[in-house]
Amino acid sequence: MAHYSFQFQTLAILVLRVGVRQEVVMKDGILLQLNNISVVYSDVIQVLKGVSLSVEEKHIVSLLGSNGAGKTTTLKAISGLLKTENGKVTDGDIVYRKKSIQNSPPETITRQGIIQVLEGRQPFKYLTIEENLRVGTATRWGKPYKKDMELIYDYFPPLKERRKTLAGYCSGGELQMLVMGRALMAHPQLLLLDEPSLGLAPLVVMEIFQIIERINKEQGTTIILVEQNARMALQIADYGYIMENGKIVMEGVSADLKENPDIKEFYLGMGTSGDAKSYRDVKSYKRRKRWL
Ligand SMILES: Nc1ncnc2c1ncn2[C@@H]1O[C@H](COP(=O)(O)OP(=O)(O)OP(=O)(O)O)[C@@H](O)[C@H]1O
Ligand SMILES: [Mg+2]
Repeated sequence: MAHYSFQFQTLAILVLRVGVRQEVVMKDGILLQLNNISVVYSDVIQVLKGVSLSVEEKHIVSLLGSNGAGKTTTLKAISGLLKTENGKVTDGDIVYRKKSIQNSPPETITRQGIIQVLEGRQPFKYLTIEENLRVGTATRWGKPYKKDMELIYDYFPPLKERRKTLAGYCSGGELQMLVMGRALMAHPQLLLLDEPSLGLAPLVVMEIFQIIERINKEQGTTIILVEQNARMALQIADYGYIMENGKIVMEGVSADLKENPDIKEFYLGMGTSGDAKSYRDVKSYKRRKRWL
């Protein structure tokens, strides 16, 4: 009898301990927090060096930075996709809804409502637009999806017109709509968008950003928006982080970042006098100046 009671007590302590470890104290309203995370690829290539950021529920947070800064790596650390590239979080903590999720399998993370739209917009080329959208329901297979489809067509009317077309024949703008629509079919609570504007014509970029803003407002979806188009990103984001060489080097509410002289010069292509600088000037400035 004493033996069983001892075992029961040990089990109770274990359950309590695990419970205590999983629940992390977070400020109210914070959905996701990265605490000082480091990421290493193939056990030797360190890319993120102590990144910390937090994302408030229902906000759009933009993550800006030049090529190779570590933006995509940050998103993959959150979604668990690092694993597919032999990368891992070696230090720090990623906390989502008060629970640690770092290095969890991507399917577990997806089921908790974190959906990443990868850069480069890869559809299933030999499926139609409508079939591609249905793939987005994979996490809740067998459940009704017709209403979701109507919602997607409401946000992205061109997809409705072309719903029977093979995705391989879509334009860049239509593809961006398709991959975002596919992600919405999974009912995301936290949507990770990686460079949605890349390579698109200015009018299409404007349309895509308006839709991102609508999704955030109407669906209450929290969004992390990785962009090189700082002007557009800061227009719709509540808060922004600037990343350089695997570290966050600046952060602030979008309105402040837009007025920051370094951001103006470095990312918005404006001199301190307000003149637009030529791309060449900005590039050479970029080479000289580091944020660190
Ligand atoms: N699978 C990988 N293995 C090794 N190194 C990688 C891997 N993926 C990315 N890197 C390196 O990590 C660094 C950051 O890459 P990442 O793709 O996160 O940057 P980024 O900010 O998204 O850049 P871009 O704006 O060009 O998309 C780069 O130096 C890149 O070469
Ligand atoms: Mg990237």
